[in-house]
Formats: sequence, C-alpha cells, structure tokens
Amino acid sequence: MQSRAIQWELGLSIFLCGGNNLCANQFGYVEDFLPQAMFRHRLGDLTSSGQPAYVSHARRRLVSFGGTLMLMPPRRKVLLFSCLFAALTALGTGVVGIAANSATEAPAGFNTPSFNGAASINNGLVEPPGDTFARDQEVYEENETVADGLGPVYNATSCVNCHQNPNSGAASQITELRVGHNDANGNFVNPTILINDGKDTITGRSIVNDRAIGPQAQEHIPATENIRTLRAALNTLGDGFVEAIDDSTLIAIAAEQPQLTGGRVHGEVVMAPIFEAPGQTRVGRFGWKDQHSSLLSFIADAYLNEMGITNRLRPTEVTQVLNTTTGINDQPDELGLADIDHFAQFVRGTMVPPRDTALAATPAALAGQRLFGQVGCNACHMEAITTAPAGTVIDGGMFTVPEALGDKVIHPFSDYLLHDIGTGDGIVQVGPQDTANKLRTAPLWGLRMKARFMHDLGSLSLENAIARHDGEAHDAAESFRGLSPAEREALITFLKTL
Ligand code: HEC
Ligand code: HEC
Repeated sequence: MQSRAIQWELGLSIFLCGGNNLCANQFGYVEDFLPQAMFRHRLGDLTSSGQPAYVSHARRRLVSFGGTLMLMPPRRKVLLFSCLFAALTALGTGVVGIAANSATEAPAGFNTPSFNGAASINNGLVEPPGDTFARDQEVYEENETVADGLGPVYNATSCVNCHQNPNSGAASQITELRVGHNDANGNFVNPTILINDGKDTITGRSIVNDRAIGPQAQEHIPATENIRTLRAALNTLGDGFVEAIDDSTLIAIAAEQPQLTGGRVHGEVVMAPIFEAPGQTRVGRFGWKDQHSSLLSFIADAYLNEMGITNRLRPTEVTQVLNTTTGINDQPDELGLADIDHFAQFVRGTMVPPRDTALAATPAALAGQRLFGQVGCNACHMEAITTAPAGTVIDGGMFTVPEALGDKVIHPFSDYLLHDIGTGDGIVQVGPQDTANKLRTAPLWGLRMKARFMHDLGSLSLENAIARHDGEAHDAAESFRGLSPAEREALITFLKTL
C-alpha cells in the first residue's frame, strides 16, 4: 500500500513535471517540503528539537528512480514545491495511505542479561529453524580455546569479553591498539609487525593484538610504526536496525549536511566491501572508521582479528607461528550454522539501547535536548533515522530486511558518517586517504553506560568530550561554551538520559 502510494505520487509528479528528469531527482527530498502538519502525519516522528526522521524507504525508491542524488539550490525548491503540491492535491487518498503505514519505533531495552540467555528477549527477529536467541547468545558468550583455534595472536577469548556493559552486546571499557606509518607522500601504510625474534612478520592490518598463545607469536611495535592509537569497544545493541538503513538515506544525509550548516559540517560516506558478496560494496556504517556495512562481515573480521578464529569469510590465519589447527576453525553446527551466523543472528536480534525515560521527562533534560539541537550537536548526532522497509534486499543481495527490522524509527544520535572534529587518529582503513583524521560520529545511544568517552576513551567527563570537539564541530563546541552554566548543565543532563 505504502509503496504503491509513493509510486503514484512519483508517477503523477513526473507526469506533472513533464517527465523532467531534474524534477524526478528532486523528489528524493519530498519530505522536506511537505507542509509541517502533513509531515508529522506521514512520518509520525518529529523529534523534540524538530529534526525530522530520515526515511529510508522513500529515499531508496525515489533515488533509485531518479538516478543520482543532487543537492538542491533553494531556487529550485520553489519549483519542486509547486510541482509536489500539484501532485499531492491530485492524489488525495494516496497521502492517507502513506500515513496509515508510517514507520514504528524500534523496540528498546537492555534485554540480553549476560550468561543468562534464557532470560533474554529479542526484537522479534525470526530465528533459523532449530535455533533460538538464547543459543545465539550462548555462542556469543562462549570462551574459545587454543584447540578451537584461538590465536596465535588475539585480544580476548569471547565476544562478550568486550561487549558486555550492562548486558551482552553492549560496549565496554576495553580499548585496542592500531598502528602504522605514513609513506613519503604522506599516505597511511599498514604496519609490518615483527614476531618470533624478527623471523616472521604480520602485515596487512593496522590492528595489533595484545595477546598471543606463546611468546614466539607476541606482537611488538617497531619504532618506525609511529602512528599509534587506542580504540574503544563499541556498542552493538540495535545494530541490526543500523544495518537496515538504506544506503540512499546515509548518502542523502551527507548531501544535505553542508547546506544545512553553511558548509561547516560535511560528513563523508565511504564504501565498504561486503565479504559475503565479493566485489560488492555498501555504505560503511560500522566501526570507528565506517569500515564495514554488513554485520556478518564485521563479525567475521572480529572473529579472526580479535580472537584468531578463522571462518568461511576470513579463512586465513593471521600468522602460522604457533598455529596448531588446520582448515577453517569455525565449522557449521548440526543446524548448519557457523558461530559467525549465530553472532550475526544475536546482534541483529538485539533491541536498541533504551533511554532513561524518567530522567528524560525532567524539565532540565527536555531543555537540554532543545539546546542540543540549537547549538548544532544534532547536525552530526542525528536524533532519528528510519530503516528500509521489510523485504528490502541489502548486503549485496545476501540479506533481506526482515519484518522485525524494517520501517523502524531509531534514535542513534549519529549520522554514521566520518568527520574531522580534530581528534583524528591518523589511521586509514577502507576509506580514501583523506579519512586518516576522520572518525564516525559516535552514536550516543547507550551513552549513560559509559564512564569514559571518545574513540580513545581519553575523556573522563562529558564536558571534556565536548571540549575536544573542534574542526567540523568547532562551531557547535563554541556555542556550547557560550551557553550559561545552567544551560550547559541541562545539555549534560540530556546526554545522561541517552
Ligand atoms: C578484545 C575486544 C573485542 C572482542 C573480543 C570483540 N570485539 Fe567487537 N569491537 C571491539 C572494538 C574495539 C570495536 C571497534 C572496532 C573499530 O572500529 O576498530 C568493536 C566493534 C564491533 C562491532 C561494530 C559495532 C558498531 O556499531 O560499529 C561489532 C558488530 C562487533 N564489534 C561485534 C563483535 C563480535 C560478534 C565479536 C565476537 C566474534 C566481537 N565483536 C569481539 C572490541 C572487541
Ligand atoms: C561535526 C560533527 C559533530 C558535531 C557537530 C558534534 N559531534 Fe560529538 N562527536 C562527533 C564525532 C566524530 C565523535 C567521535 C570523536 C572521537 O571519538 O574522537 C563525537 C563524540 C561525541 C561524544 C563521545 C561519545 C562516546 O561514546 O564516547 C559526545 C558525548 C559528543 N560527541 C557530544 C556532542 C555534543 C554535546 C555536541 C554539541 C555541542 C557534539 N557532540 C557535536 C561528531 C560531532
């Protein structure tokens, strides 16, 4: 019903626009120009600071119809609006159809208590035959041994070691080491790490594992690898919804950002390879560098690079030094599911981090949320994004957005784009060289479960985290400093509700 309504809208408007391609392209921005009341009706979600939810489905269809996405000069908005108005007037009932099917809020909760999967509740994601969410969580919490393929170099023995606060799948205080150096042209180069008294090397990755199953495999950083940084473990609760955001939504956010901020904020989209669909890419959204777009890909990478467990998507050991296993470590169980499949099922099944609703309802928090919008924090820390509809095929054709994840409004307080806010770490992963000093806007959902902040966990207070914002976030940070003490306090109170 909904898609048909949108198609009518499109077909009609193209008719009204005389098939003008420019006009068709511009319908990617259709929500932006609807009268306020209609807007509310359609999206059912104007956030308290008035920021609309970015809608995946409309954009996907509209963008793919028109081809490329364009930034619209204000002059053309008038043209578009008259064109759109004519289309909507003629449609009438179509608009009602859209409103009746508007997206719903994603379920929220810290509902995966660690080591108690039997008490866990998922977001409604349907399990493969024979599998349960409790079992997925159990596999996620399993400690791997050397016999299972742990190491030779690794960081921890299970996913939950680093993703646990306050429940399985969330973040933790664990940081990891990444290093490298720049070549003569200033381009980042992955390190060459010597192990085994210099007899062997590990190359091709910037991560350095802190642990090894024996001294011969221990990694040590040569002095020449002079770019060094720490990176915090990330929250993964609700990431199934993030995976279900359509590429076109993130691209549209990036396209609009400079215009909305007078050119000050200009998030970068990077394309990340999809391991399960070789040769294909998708807009990166996971990891501090947006180095992945598919959860299964990220997880396969983590199993190898955090734990040393080879799997069907990452089949090669990091080093053969001290390796005692042969073949791929992660083999399918009796259900035909490998551990990486259970991990993906677990992460995709988690609910989004819940707000502290009692604190959020206080006058201070409400005032703080308005200020958060007013000083421009939400240019990057975007309050609401809507996922693609159920049935949308993503991840290079390897995953179909299920009912549980489709058409959901989430409040990640991120645009999932890379920005230079002056805290860059010098590391390049899948993006071009200009991403060396950029980081993904830290999603602020689940923030109240953190005691230290920023990619390096170097900020021991929220005030310090904000004070470190510069570069693209200079004006927002400056505006924050310009607030009265009571206003600053209110904004911080709002952050503590997330
Ligand atoms: C030693 C700690 C550690 C272990 C073990 C670990 N992770 Fe992570 N995880 C991290 C860190 C650090 C990041 C951020 C990585 C980056 O961007 O460099 C991360 C990021 C992620 C993300 C991306 C989240 C986002 O929203 O961007 C996913 C998904 C994830 N981990 C899943 C897993 C799974 C599944 C396992 C088990 C196979 C696992 N991790 C094991 C530390 C760990
Ligand atoms: C230009 C985009 C941008 C703007 C504007 C911006 N931020 Fe950020 N924010 C980021 C990025 C990128 C990071 C991650 C930086 C890092 O870890 O080094 C971040 C990190 C944070 C963190 C740390 C989160 C964590 O999990 O450790 C907080 C808190 C935060 N921002 C709050 C704010 C507030 C409050 C404002 C407004 C005064 C603001 N930000 C404005 C991009 C932005």
